Amino acid sequence: MSGDRIAVYPGSFDPVTRGHEDLIQRSRAFADRVVVAVAVNAAKQPLFTTEERVALLREAVRGPGIEVQSFQGLLVNFARQVRASMIVRGLRAVSDFEYEFQMANMNRKLDPNIETLFMMTGEDYFYISSRFVRDVARLGGDVSGLVPQNVLLALKKRFK
Ligand code: PNS
Repeated sequence: MSGDRIAVYPGSFDPVTRGHEDLIQRSRAFADRVVVAVAVNAAKQPLFTTEERVALLREAVRGPGIEVQSFQGLLVNFARQVRASMIVRGLRAVSDFEYEFQMANMNRKLDPNIETLFMMTGEDYFYISSRFVRDVARLGGDVSGLVPQNVLLALKKRFK
């Protein structure tokens, strides 16, 4: 179906949070298909393996037009492979902007046909990051409400 508007929503998702979940669902307003793209080569040593991150996402964000895949290498190559015309990224705060701005411009240089779209994170989620979720869970804090239920269970298991 060549007329489909396909968006890629890339990230490390280590682990997926309620903020990611909200953005994925809201992206469906302008994309017929949203391909959630889990980066294999996260710079840091991830808490969850690629397979675990993909599985947690698949369980947490089901719905028509939503799929989850992992990718390696350049994001624009993956976007082309799935015939996406847009890359969606969330913005939580001004501090996100510089990195996102650089990344969007680099991706535009690599492929001018793929547009990056920024969405404001939902107001209930702007303070949530995967890094804080990992840290708080590791130190025994309560992250319920910040992550999907299956992720909460996976974190409890990991840090028990
Ligand atoms: O959730 P994150 O860690 O902010 O996601 C960053 C990610 C995975 C989207 C970014 O690192 C990425 O696109 N990596 C793939 C490599 C790539 O295409 N680099 C060139 C663009 S800067």
